[in-house]
Amino acid sequence: MKSTQTLEAGSTPDEKGTVAAQEQAQAVAQDETAERQALAAQRRGAATQLDFSSRRHTVEQNLEIWNDEYDWSLDGDEWSGQARYCAQPYERWKQSIIESFILPYISPTSTVLEVAAGHGRWSREIVDRCGHLIMLDLCPTCIRHCEDLFAGKNNVSFVVNDGKTLADIGDGGVDFVWSFDSFVHMGASVIDSYLGEMRRVLKEGGTAVIHHPGRRHHALPLKFLRNMGTNGRRLYKLVSMGRLRQDDGWRSDISRETVARLAQRNGLTVRGQFQRWGPGGQFTLDKYGDCITVMYRQRSL
Ligand SMILES: C[S@@+](CC[C@H](N)C(=O)[O-])C[C@H]1O[C@@H](n2cnc3c(N)ncnc32)[C@H](O)[C@@H]1O
Repeated sequence: MKSTQTLEAGSTPDEKGTVAAQEQAQAVAQDETAERQALAAQRRGAATQLDFSSRRHTVEQNLEIWNDEYDWSLDGDEWSGQARYCAQPYERWKQSIIESFILPYISPTSTVLEVAAGHGRWSREIVDRCGHLIMLDLCPTCIRHCEDLFAGKNNVSFVVNDGKTLADIGDGGVDFVWSFDSFVHMGASVIDSYLGEMRRVLKEGGTAVIHHPGRRHHALPLKFLRNMGTNGRRLYKLVSMGRLRQDDGWRSDISRETVARLAQRNGLTVRGQFQRWGPGGQFTLDKYGDCITVMYRQRSL
């Protein structure tokens, strides 16, 4: 099984050492303050993302949450906690993802598929850099928003799907599949189904880059603790994420080993799994211990 790697984006390691550690400690403290405020708001009855912690990671629950309940007024740019956690400005952290995990795989002639595109937070960065962009989501309201957002573009198509297949997309025509902040909320059977579908729609040599949970693999059998009240959930969070205080970001019960195994089973070759990238590994997904897996469809001989 592959171990998690650091993707260096071309420059020398960050040598700021202590200053960086202080900044990180400050950022973690700020993040905990933000979470305490969100919890307080939740107790007062305001709807926040933290409300989801007792819900299951099914297609039906995802549809209900993202289509009917979630306040999309910031179009996804409110998910800045990962950047704060590694003491980076959100725009810089986001740009580093684009440069490290999207741009190397696309060109002005590429066909790109974004799975679970939401309100187009990443598609906005992709649309003018590829030949054709297919935006897919389970939620009709998200796709309706994206249709309005890209009304002036003639290289975008839109798909509302069933939450597990890519049935409207033909075989072998896609150069690059991208998904961020969405597989983190999906269960293993849905991820399994999508990876098989990605193998089908990718061209030979095409790449898929997926952001997903990175819970500790050995702790996954303890997921039953989720059903044992607040203390059970806290304990599970501690053993599977190494965190006690934080919410768990509604992460599903998936490890990087799970994704590597499902990729292999579906005929995709894992090129690498990353939790940090950039000079000195300064950009991370440490807040919830997530991971990005880069995989590709091999060329036939
Ligand atoms: C947290 S949002 C992220 C949106 C976008 N990827 C971003 O980073 O801004 C999760 C998105 O995943 C979509 N989603 C959840 N489960 C899905 C599934 N099984 N199939 C397709 N889309 C799904 C939701 O509708 C929602 O748009």
